[in-house]
Amino acid sequence: MSRPDCAKSRRRGSGTEPVSGYKPLKNKVFIKSYGCQMNVYDSARMADTLAPHGFVATDTPDDADLIVLNTCHIREKAAEKVFSDLGRMRLIRESRAHRGASTMIAVAGCVAQAEGAELAARAPFVDIVLGPQTYHRLPELVARARRAREHVERRRRAAIVDTEFPVEAKFDHLPEPTASGPTAFLSVQEGCDKFCTFCVVPYTRGAEYSRPVADVLREARGLVARGAREITLLGQNVNAYHGVDPRGGASSLGGLIRALADIPGLDRIRYTTSHPRDMNEELILAHRDVPQLMPFLHLPIQSGADRVLADMNRGHTRDDYRRIIDRLRAVRPDIAISSDFIVGYPGETDTEFAESVALVDGVGFIQAYSFKYSKRPGTPAAGALNQVPEPVKAERLAILQAALDRSQERFNLACVGRTMDVLLTGPGRHPGQLVGRSPYLQPVHVVAEGAAVGDIATLVIVAREARSLAAARPGREDASAA
Ligand code: 5AD
Ligand code: SF4
Repeated sequence: MSRPDCAKSRRRGSGTEPVSGYKPLKNKVFIKSYGCQMNVYDSARMADTLAPHGFVATDTPDDADLIVLNTCHIREKAAEKVFSDLGRMRLIRESRAHRGASTMIAVAGCVAQAEGAELAARAPFVDIVLGPQTYHRLPELVARARRAREHVERRRRAAIVDTEFPVEAKFDHLPEPTASGPTAFLSVQEGCDKFCTFCVVPYTRGAEYSRPVADVLREARGLVARGAREITLLGQNVNAYHGVDPRGGASSLGGLIRALADIPGLDRIRYTTSHPRDMNEELILAHRDVPQLMPFLHLPIQSGADRVLADMNRGHTRDDYRRIIDRLRAVRPDIAISSDFIVGYPGETDTEFAESVALVDGVGFIQAYSFKYSKRPGTPAAGALNQVPEPVKAERLAILQAALDRSQERFNLACVGRTMDVLLTGPGRHPGQLVGRSPYLQPVHVVAEGAAVGDIATLVIVAREARSLAAARPGREDASAA
């Protein structure tokens, strides 16, 4: 797998321009997202690009004229899931064909980027393969695939592939987002230049890119106008953000957050995912000064052992990480920290693994994601000779997850009895129940008469459940919410 060569892939054409020979019809599109929140955002933007071309979203593939799988390549399991889902999509397509309806299948995202050729070989029925940097061209690709369908016989037809890294920023060619609701994602940064030895992202998403401040502010104002009270800024390396500011300089993420905080009606700001190396003082001070910035930070460390961190090319030590947490807690004492861990990275010894477990207990993460190391083709660690056997990885994962669960439980228990502002985001499982998010991103259930989705309700936490909290209105603590 090689790095994107932007100069070679220079190309004109935005993909959202009117496409000749294209007739807007009412068509249904089903888009499935795998993996990270950036994919969720990208899927919504794909729907936005298709809407002016007559596509309406459907939540089942069974009646879709166009099926888009927006895929994830981060671990082998995620990539394999795509191939098994493609088998199901093929059956749907065949059963629709018997009823005289045609179905187009597109594979987007990081699997498409990394394994375009393998996809064409393993799933020759796929019509379109497009990477994360070209999805603004989806309407054009659909039109091309339709033309191919009309003019080229089936056995000679190959998938239309667009996995370039075009120099034109796709964001310049996307229509205004149409997403609405109390919470929204906003992509501000993409790509990664860090090249951790285990990770495919620098190859699938390309080099770091930051959107200009003015564009981000415009999109944020639009989201707030459509009802968003909380915006999560997204980026593979979001705190490496360095977008052009209106004076022609560069703004850091801390500066961007301060500018966003001036938007009336934007009550809550979050950002994810950050890298310890880019956790600069300006961003740390934003946690002190900007009340809208929520006291929660997802800061992956991957391992608690310095030798492993060095081998991973992380560019920081365990103590660097701890110093960042100490500094954040000094300016924002209630900040809650979450993280990512990998167990069984090549060469990880029992002692090194024990350092990861010790770090969990030392930092007190309120939640974390943990994964068994998964070999990714083309990444340096995949070729290492000292791979850790699968049963050892499984055992370590269970031990680490138990430590993380204990840490989460301690935090959730300490929340019982506290009063918190909860942004209500949707209906709960039971009649009359609503679900929302605490400042620390915990799911909170409540039965509160008169409260509505979109409210920020001041609630007392009355109980902790397996992965969520139950709350009540102050003074109604005995009326349990669950
Ligand atoms: N194997 C296991 N986990 C991985 N991650 C990234 N690449 C791999 C891999 N090859 C995890 C890291 C990262 C998260 C998004 O996925 O922990 O932070
Ligand atoms: Fe992957 Fe994150 Fe490392 Fe970039 S910083 S290579 S996205 S793990």
